[in-house]
Amino acid sequence: MKTAVYPGSFDPVTNGHLDIISRASRIIDKLYVAVLDNPSKTPLFTAEERVQQLKQILKDYDNVEVMSFSGLLVDFARSVNSNIIVRGLRGVTDFSYEFQMALSNRSLDSDIETLFISADTQYLFFSSSQVKEIAYFNGNIDNMVPDLIKEQLQKKMKKY
Ligand code: PNS
Repeated sequence: MKTAVYPGSFDPVTNGHLDIISRASRIIDKLYVAVLDNPSKTPLFTAEERVQQLKQILKDYDNVEVMSFSGLLVDFARSVNSNIIVRGLRGVTDFSYEFQMALSNRSLDSDIETLFISADTQYLFFSSSQVKEIAYFNGNIDNMVPDLIKEQLQKKMKKY
């Protein structure tokens, strides 16, 4: 059985991330969506909130499980008996960072392989950071995130 880990901050999850999850879940038997819980960062949504959002959004995927992790990604991958890391690529600007990360992970664990999946063209131009900025200024994020995230972003932004 082929298992893989799709890690990220997912602060918040975007339709681009969901496109990668959908594509990966078709070629991998079991996909772990791994939400980074990094105490040294201050995300907009807590790790618990991000896990709950993803669980809700991905509830119809039988072969996808959402978990949080802290520490090294390779250690998390080992803990779920997986040696495949899935990452999405939006274009050449993502490539150097992603390539460096793939090689770092391989240097930490030589069994690890990174599988790059290209995002669909409609998702190439935005990121979680841009979604947050647009939401902060009440811009239209309808095509960028699921409704659940849109509602939760609007609630969060009211507190600021
Ligand atoms: O969605 P992001 O923020 O680009 O995801 C980055 C992530 C979570 C994949 C990366 O920061 C990560 O793996 N962090 C865990 C720490 C780690 O293993 N670092 C070594 C690899 S560079």
